[in-house]
Amino acid sequence: MIYFQKMKQRAIELKRKKDIFILALESSCDETAAAIVRNGREVLSSVISSQIETHQVYGGVVPEIASRKHVEAINEVIHCALKQSDLAKARLDAIAVTFGPGLVGALLVGVSAAKALAYGLSVPLIGVHHIEGHISANYIQHKELEPPFVCLIVSGGHTQIVHVKDYGSYDLVGETMDDAAGEAFDKVARVLGLGYPGGPAVDRIARHGNPNAIHFPRAGIKDRPFDFSFSGLKTAVINYLHHLEQKGETYSTEDVAASFQKAVVDVLVEKTIASANMLKLEKIVVAGGVAANSCLKEGLEESAVKNNMQLFIPPPVLCTDNAAMIGCAGYYCLLQGKISPLSLNAVPYLPLTGRND
Ligand code: KG4
Ligand code: ZN
Repeated sequence: MIYFQKMKQRAIELKRKKDIFILALESSCDETAAAIVRNGREVLSSVISSQIETHQVYGGVVPEIASRKHVEAINEVIHCALKQSDLAKARLDAIAVTFGPGLVGALLVGVSAAKALAYGLSVPLIGVHHIEGHISANYIQHKELEPPFVCLIVSGGHTQIVHVKDYGSYDLVGETMDDAAGEAFDKVARVLGLGYPGGPAVDRIARHGNPNAIHFPRAGIKDRPFDFSFSGLKTAVINYLHHLEQKGETYSTEDVAASFQKAVVDVLVEKTIASANMLKLEKIVVAGGVAANSCLKEGLEESAVKNNMQLFIPPPVLCTDNAAMIGCAGYYCLLQGKISPLSLNAVPYLPLTGRND
């Protein structure tokens, strides 16, 4: 308690400091990451240790293994981030960490390390929402970007359209009723035998296929124009493949991948543009792992131009999980005095915001 009161005061004093250095940690899924960020938007170092090879054998992330791998990697990753930034530990002003949503055992590794560092260095601890981190990746890449804007969040666990009114202020416009977009990519990749993670593999192979070869459904939800549903699409792809297999016919993996990808992208683009029009906003921001998808980028670029809107997408390395985005989000939390006590816990299910209707 004494620590927390002292840190509340420290956070107020920090606002007057010229340069604020934050060490950020991310361990919500299968990447152990650390970064040092200056004043929210300047990345001094960003280190990502990926567990993809470990989980590839199982065709998806095994939570228990993920936690153990984070334990093995976390100290080394922090050490590397500090070394690459050339910053002495004593110059750190705060420690930011993803505390949810994500795999609970995985999150706990980052949260525990962050607490130890914050207490040991006597600096504020900042618990960061993982999705707020994904949104903030855009502030790193696009230095001029400021809220308000419409944000399409597309990751392995989330598909949402959010009205970002200000830093840390969100309204939910729409969301998926079942699978997330990334989840659909991963599942379809698995049935096509493309391995894990599926998104990048589908993206790669789809470049050699015809997106109009097969018409897969673009599902909408009655009376909910900004919500998504991807489970029917996934089933349609599986049925298509089974049907041909039963008849002993072959299919083009490239065409299936391209047609499936187009079906996902068409819906994401249409609803994002419609949301921006409804809110009368001209800035569209994309966040999360699926933001790295080349077809989504092309589709949004084309529609943004047609609708006189500005489009912001981070480069692929900032789209997928990293700690730099957590450092950026943590900076804006710190400026608003949103710091965490040392009792901070991992929260596996953590909505960014509720629906406003
Ligand atoms: O944001 P992220 O790294 O982790 C979560 O917070 O979930 O997103 C991972 C998701 C996975 O489903 C992965 O298949 C998907 O993002 N993904 C992609 C691409 N790169 C990553 N999906 C489509 N195209 C890509 N290029
Ligand atoms: Zn993520």
